[in-house]
Amino acid sequence: MFIGTEKLTHTYMPGMPYAKEALRNITFSFEKGDFALIIGPSGSGKSTLIQHLNGLLRPSSGRVFFDHEAIGSDKHKLLQIRRRIGLVFQMPEEQFFSETVFDEIAFAPRNLGLEERLVHDRVKDALQKVDLDAEIFAGRHPFQLSAGQKRLVAIAAVLSLEPEVLILDEPTAGLDSAGRRTLFKLLTYLNRNERLTVIISTHHLDEAAALAGPVLVLKDGCLVMNGLAADIFTRRSELDELGLALPPVTEIMHNLFEAGLPVNIAVYSLSGAKEEIMKLKRRRD
Ligand SMILES: Nc1ncnc2c1ncn2[C@@H]1O[C@H](COP(=O)(O)OP(=O)(O)OP(=O)(O)O)[C@@H](O)[C@H]1O
Ligand SMILES: [Mg+2]
Repeated sequence: MFIGTEKLTHTYMPGMPYAKEALRNITFSFEKGDFALIIGPSGSGKSTLIQHLNGLLRPSSGRVFFDHEAIGSDKHKLLQIRRRIGLVFQMPEEQFFSETVFDEIAFAPRNLGLEERLVHDRVKDALQKVDLDAEIFAGRHPFQLSAGQKRLVAIAAVLSLEPEVLILDEPTAGLDSAGRRTLFKLLTYLNRNERLTVIISTHHLDEAAALAGPVLVLKDGCLVMNGLAADIFTRRSELDELGLALPPVTEIMHNLFEAGLPVNIAVYSLSGAKEEIMKLKRRRD
Protein backbone atom coordinates (compact mmCIF):
# COMPACT_ATOMS: atom_id res chain seq x y z
CA MET A 1 0.00 0.00 0.00
CA PHE A 2 1.18 3.53 -0.68
CA ILE A 3 -0.24 5.08 2.46
CA GLY A 4 -2.51 3.50 5.05
CA THR A 5 -2.91 1.74 8.36
CA GLU A 6 -3.39 -1.76 9.69
CA LYS A 7 -5.43 -2.22 12.87
CA LEU A 8 -4.35 1.21 14.11
CA THR A 9 -5.47 2.05 17.63
CA HIS A 10 -4.55 5.23 19.46
CA THR A 11 -5.15 5.99 23.12
CA TYR A 12 -4.32 9.42 24.52
CA MET A 13 -2.93 9.40 28.08
CA PRO A 14 -2.91 5.60 28.40
CA GLY A 15 -3.23 4.26 31.90
CA MET A 16 -4.47 7.62 33.24
CA PRO A 17 -7.95 8.26 34.61
CA TYR A 18 -8.66 10.46 31.55
CA ALA A 19 -7.35 7.93 29.01
CA LYS A 20 -9.16 8.34 25.71
CA GLU A 21 -9.24 5.80 22.90
CA ALA A 22 -9.38 8.18 19.93
CA LEU A 23 -8.91 5.55 17.19
CA ARG A 24 -9.87 1.89 17.28
CA ASN A 25 -8.70 -0.80 14.90
CA ILE A 26 -8.50 1.34 11.76
CA THR A 27 -7.43 -0.41 8.54
CA PHE A 28 -7.41 1.29 5.14
CA SER A 29 -5.14 2.13 2.24
CA PHE A 30 -4.83 4.92 -0.31
CA GLU A 31 -2.93 4.71 -3.57
CA LYS A 32 -0.38 7.08 -5.06
CA GLY A 33 -2.17 9.90 -6.89
CA ASP A 34 -5.43 9.56 -4.94
CA PHE A 35 -7.53 12.52 -3.85
CA ALA A 36 -8.85 11.10 -0.61
CA LEU A 37 -11.28 12.39 2.02
CA ILE A 38 -11.51 11.72 5.72
CA ILE A 39 -14.87 12.79 7.08
CA GLY A 40 -16.66 12.43 10.40
CA PRO A 41 -18.27 14.53 13.10
CA SER A 42 -16.27 16.64 15.54
CA GLY A 43 -14.27 14.44 17.91
CA SER A 44 -14.48 11.38 15.64
CA GLY A 45 -10.68 11.10 15.34
CA LYS A 46 -9.84 12.82 12.04
CA SER A 47 -6.94 14.92 13.36
CA THR A 48 -5.60 12.00 15.37
CA LEU A 49 -5.59 9.78 12.28
CA ILE A 50 -3.96 12.47 10.15
CA GLN A 51 -1.14 12.94 12.65
CA HIS A 52 -0.40 9.22 12.45
CA LEU A 53 -0.06 9.36 8.68
CA ASN A 54 3.21 11.29 8.81
CA GLY A 55 4.49 9.72 11.98
CA LEU A 56 3.77 12.63 14.36
CA LEU A 57 1.83 10.33 16.67
CA ARG A 58 2.89 6.77 17.44
CA PRO A 59 0.28 3.97 17.38
CA SER A 60 -0.79 2.45 20.70
CA SER A 61 -1.16 -0.69 18.61
CA GLY A 62 -1.26 -1.53 14.92
CA ARG A 63 0.84 -0.07 12.14
CA VAL A 64 0.99 2.84 9.72
CA PHE A 65 2.43 2.34 6.24
CA PHE A 66 4.05 4.69 3.77
CA ASP A 67 5.42 3.63 0.42
CA HIS A 68 4.98 -0.06 1.26
CA GLU A 69 6.94 0.15 4.53
CA ALA A 70 5.72 0.31 8.11
CA ILE A 71 6.64 3.63 9.74
CA GLY A 72 9.03 2.79 12.56
CA SER A 73 10.69 4.88 15.22
CA ASP A 74 14.04 5.47 13.49
CA LYS A 75 14.56 9.24 13.78
CA HIS A 76 16.33 9.66 10.45
CA LYS A 77 13.58 7.75 8.61
CA LEU A 78 10.87 9.73 10.38
CA LEU A 79 12.47 12.98 9.22
CA GLN A 80 12.54 11.66 5.67
CA ILE A 81 8.88 10.66 5.89
CA ARG A 82 7.90 14.12 7.17
CA ARG A 83 9.69 15.62 4.21
CA ARG A 84 7.82 13.39 1.77
CA ILE A 85 4.43 13.75 3.46
CA GLY A 86 3.54 17.40 4.02
CA LEU A 87 0.98 18.07 6.74
CA VAL A 88 -1.06 21.26 6.96
CA PHE A 89 -2.59 21.47 10.42
CA GLN A 90 -6.09 22.59 11.34
CA MET A 91 -6.07 26.45 11.37
CA PRO A 92 -2.35 26.49 10.45
CA GLU A 93 -2.07 30.29 10.38
CA GLU A 94 -2.48 30.32 14.16
CA GLN A 95 1.04 28.92 14.26
CA PHE A 96 2.70 31.55 12.03
CA PHE A 97 5.79 32.87 13.76
CA SER A 98 7.79 34.76 11.12
CA GLU A 99 7.89 38.47 10.33
CA THR A 100 7.40 37.98 6.60
CA VAL A 101 5.64 35.57 4.28
CA PHE A 102 9.05 34.82 2.76
CA ASP A 103 10.57 33.73 6.08
CA GLU A 104 7.49 31.71 6.98
CA ILE A 105 7.77 29.68 3.78
CA ALA A 106 11.59 29.59 3.91
CA PHE A 107 11.61 28.04 7.39
CA ALA A 108 11.37 24.39 6.33
CA PRO A 109 13.87 24.52 3.43
CA ARG A 110 16.33 26.48 5.63
CA ASN A 111 15.90 23.75 8.21
CA LEU A 112 16.98 21.24 5.57
CA GLY A 113 20.23 23.18 5.40
CA LEU A 114 19.70 24.33 1.81
CA GLU A 115 21.80 27.21 0.50
CA GLU A 116 19.99 30.56 0.62
CA ARG A 117 19.86 30.70 -3.19
CA LEU A 118 18.00 27.35 -3.28
CA VAL A 119 15.78 28.45 -0.40
CA HIS A 120 14.86 31.47 -2.48
CA ASP A 121 13.90 29.24 -5.42
CA ARG A 122 11.82 26.99 -3.17
CA VAL A 123 9.89 29.97 -1.77
CA LYS A 124 9.30 31.39 -5.24
CA ASP A 125 8.08 28.03 -6.55
CA ALA A 126 5.82 27.46 -3.56
CA LEU A 127 4.23 30.91 -3.90
CA GLN A 128 3.74 30.31 -7.59
CA LYS A 129 2.02 26.97 -6.93
CA VAL A 130 -0.51 28.60 -4.61
CA ASP A 131 -0.93 31.43 -7.12
CA LEU A 132 0.31 34.26 -4.87
CA ASP A 133 2.47 36.90 -6.56
CA ALA A 134 5.89 36.87 -4.85
CA GLU A 135 6.42 40.57 -5.68
CA ILE A 136 3.35 41.50 -3.70
CA PHE A 137 3.30 38.96 -0.91
CA ALA A 138 6.84 37.79 -0.06
CA GLY A 139 7.68 40.88 2.00
CA ARG A 140 4.36 41.21 3.79
CA HIS A 141 3.76 40.35 7.41
CA PRO A 142 1.66 37.15 7.53
CA PHE A 143 -0.97 38.99 9.55
CA GLN A 144 -1.46 41.49 6.72
CA LEU A 145 -3.24 38.84 4.68
CA SER A 146 -6.85 37.77 4.28
CA ALA A 147 -7.95 34.47 5.82
CA GLY A 148 -7.81 32.77 2.42
CA GLN A 149 -4.33 34.17 1.66
CA LYS A 150 -3.06 33.05 5.08
CA ARG A 151 -4.28 29.55 4.34
CA LEU A 152 -2.47 29.61 0.98
CA VAL A 153 0.76 30.76 2.67
CA ALA A 154 0.44 27.91 5.18
CA ILE A 155 0.09 25.47 2.28
CA ALA A 156 3.04 27.08 0.46
CA ALA A 157 5.12 26.63 3.64
CA VAL A 158 4.52 22.88 3.37
CA LEU A 159 4.94 22.76 -0.42
CA SER A 160 8.40 24.31 -0.01
CA LEU A 161 9.57 20.85 1.11
CA GLU A 162 8.41 19.48 -2.26
CA PRO A 163 6.42 16.64 -0.69
CA GLU A 164 4.85 13.73 -2.60
CA VAL A 165 1.80 13.63 -0.35
CA LEU A 166 -0.10 16.63 0.94
CA ILE A 167 -2.37 16.09 3.92
CA LEU A 168 -4.61 18.93 5.05
CA ASP A 169 -6.66 18.87 8.24
CA GLU A 170 -9.92 20.77 7.58
CA PRO A 171 -8.36 23.11 5.03
CA THR A 172 -11.63 24.94 4.39
CA ALA A 173 -12.37 25.76 8.06
CA GLY A 174 -13.09 29.46 8.48
CA LEU A 175 -13.06 30.28 4.74
CA ASP A 176 -15.99 31.76 2.81
CA SER A 177 -17.31 30.09 -0.32
CA ALA A 178 -14.93 32.02 -2.63
CA GLY A 179 -11.97 31.04 -0.41
CA ARG A 180 -13.12 27.41 -0.45
CA ARG A 181 -13.43 27.44 -4.24
CA THR A 182 -9.91 28.87 -4.64
CA LEU A 183 -8.57 26.26 -2.27
CA PHE A 184 -10.22 23.33 -4.03
CA LYS A 185 -9.03 24.64 -7.38
CA LEU A 186 -5.49 24.66 -6.00
CA LEU A 187 -5.79 21.17 -4.53
CA THR A 188 -7.18 19.82 -7.82
CA TYR A 189 -4.26 21.43 -9.65
CA LEU A 190 -1.70 19.96 -7.25
CA ASN A 191 -3.31 16.53 -7.50
CA ARG A 192 -3.71 16.43 -11.28
CA ASN A 193 -0.83 18.52 -12.58
CA GLU A 194 1.83 18.28 -9.88
CA ARG A 195 0.83 14.63 -9.23
CA LEU A 196 0.62 15.02 -5.48
CA THR A 197 -1.40 12.53 -3.50
CA VAL A 198 -3.87 14.71 -1.59
CA ILE A 199 -5.65 13.69 1.61
CA ILE A 200 -8.01 16.07 3.36
CA SER A 201 -10.39 15.98 6.27
CA THR A 202 -13.41 18.18 5.81
CA HIS A 203 -16.98 18.97 6.73
CA HIS A 204 -17.59 20.74 3.43
CA LEU A 205 -18.61 17.90 1.20
CA ASP A 206 -19.80 19.98 -1.74
CA GLU A 207 -16.57 20.82 -3.53
CA ALA A 208 -14.73 17.88 -1.98
CA ALA A 209 -17.25 15.19 -2.93
CA ALA A 210 -16.87 16.00 -6.61
CA LEU A 211 -13.10 15.53 -6.46
CA ALA A 212 -12.76 12.58 -4.18
CA GLY A 213 -11.72 9.07 -4.97
CA PRO A 214 -11.51 7.10 -1.72
CA VAL A 215 -13.45 8.24 1.35
CA LEU A 216 -13.13 7.22 4.99
CA VAL A 217 -15.94 7.98 7.41
CA LEU A 218 -15.06 8.01 11.10
CA LYS A 219 -17.38 7.90 14.08
CA ASP A 220 -16.21 7.77 17.70
CA GLY A 221 -12.75 6.61 16.59
CA CYS A 222 -14.09 3.77 14.44
CA LEU A 223 -14.00 3.47 10.66
CA VAL A 224 -17.71 3.13 9.80
CA MET A 225 -17.49 3.52 6.02
CA ASN A 226 -14.58 2.99 3.63
CA GLY A 227 -15.15 3.15 -0.09
CA LEU A 228 -15.20 5.29 -3.19
CA ALA A 229 -16.98 8.65 -3.11
CA ALA A 230 -19.45 7.53 -5.77
CA ASP A 231 -20.64 4.74 -3.43
CA ILE A 232 -20.33 6.47 -0.06
CA PHE A 233 -22.33 9.52 -1.10
CA THR A 234 -25.28 7.38 -2.20
CA ARG A 235 -25.71 6.21 1.41
CA ARG A 236 -27.64 9.26 2.51
CA SER A 237 -29.44 7.89 5.56
CA GLU A 238 -26.23 6.53 7.10
CA LEU A 239 -24.49 9.86 6.52
CA ASP A 240 -27.52 11.69 7.92
CA GLU A 241 -27.32 9.66 11.12
CA LEU A 242 -23.72 10.79 11.50
CA GLY A 243 -24.76 14.42 11.07
CA LEU A 244 -22.90 14.61 7.75
CA ALA A 245 -25.13 16.52 5.38
CA LEU A 246 -24.79 15.92 1.66
CA PRO A 247 -24.37 18.98 -0.55
CA PRO A 248 -27.81 20.59 -1.18
CA VAL A 249 -27.65 19.78 -4.89
CA THR A 250 -27.03 16.09 -4.09
CA GLU A 251 -29.98 16.16 -1.63
CA ILE A 252 -32.21 17.43 -4.43
CA MET A 253 -31.08 14.63 -6.75
CA HIS A 254 -31.83 12.08 -4.01
CA ASN A 255 -35.30 13.57 -3.57
CA LEU A 256 -35.99 13.46 -7.32
CA PHE A 257 -34.80 9.85 -7.44
CA GLU A 258 -37.03 8.90 -4.50
CA ALA A 259 -39.94 10.58 -6.27
CA GLY A 260 -39.41 8.09 -9.10
CA LEU A 261 -37.36 10.14 -11.57
CA PRO A 262 -34.47 8.20 -13.14
CA VAL A 263 -31.66 10.60 -12.21
CA ASN A 264 -28.10 9.92 -11.12
CA ILE A 265 -27.82 10.69 -7.40
CA ALA A 266 -24.01 10.94 -7.39
CA VAL A 267 -24.14 14.57 -8.51
CA TYR A 268 -22.36 17.28 -6.53
CA SER A 269 -22.32 20.34 -8.73
CA LEU A 270 -24.97 22.60 -10.24
CA SER A 271 -23.70 21.83 -13.72
CA GLY A 272 -23.98 18.08 -13.01
CA ALA A 273 -27.55 18.54 -11.78
CA LYS A 274 -28.46 20.58 -14.82
CA GLU A 275 -27.12 17.85 -17.09
CA GLU A 276 -29.23 15.20 -15.32
CA ILE A 277 -32.36 17.33 -15.58
CA MET A 278 -31.71 18.04 -19.25
CA LYS A 279 -31.43 14.27 -19.80
CA LEU A 280 -34.93 13.89 -18.31
CA LYS A 281 -36.18 16.61 -20.61
CA ARG A 282 -34.67 14.92 -23.67
CA ARG A 283 -36.38 11.65 -22.70
CA ARG A 284 -39.72 13.38 -22.40
CA ASP A 285 -39.37 15.22 -25.73
N1 LIG B 1 -4.02 15.66 22.96
C1 LIG B 1 -5.13 15.01 23.34
N2 LIG B 1 -5.24 14.48 24.58
C2 LIG B 1 -6.35 13.82 24.96
N3 LIG B 1 -7.42 13.60 24.19
C3 LIG B 1 -7.38 14.09 22.94
C4 LIG B 1 -6.24 14.83 22.46
N4 LIG B 1 -6.49 15.22 21.17
C5 LIG B 1 -7.72 14.73 20.89
N5 LIG B 1 -8.27 14.07 21.93
C6 LIG B 1 -9.58 13.40 21.97
O1 LIG B 1 -9.59 12.39 20.98
C7 LIG B 1 -10.83 12.37 20.27
C8 LIG B 1 -10.58 12.60 18.78
O2 LIG B 1 -10.08 13.93 18.60
P1 LIG B 1 -9.66 14.52 17.19
O3 LIG B 1 -9.10 15.84 17.43
O4 LIG B 1 -8.84 13.49 16.48
O5 LIG B 1 -11.11 14.61 16.45
P2 LIG B 1 -11.52 15.37 15.12
O6 LIG B 1 -12.37 14.42 14.34
O7 LIG B 1 -10.32 15.90 14.45
O8 LIG B 1 -12.44 16.56 15.64
P3 LIG B 1 -12.69 18.05 15.02
O9 LIG B 1 -13.62 17.86 13.82
O10 LIG B 1 -13.37 18.78 16.14
O11 LIG B 1 -11.37 18.62 14.65
C9 LIG B 1 -11.70 13.45 20.92
O12 LIG B 1 -12.54 12.83 21.85
C10 LIG B 1 -10.70 14.36 21.62
O13 LIG B 1 -11.26 14.93 22.77
MG1 LIG C 1 -9.71 17.83 13.98
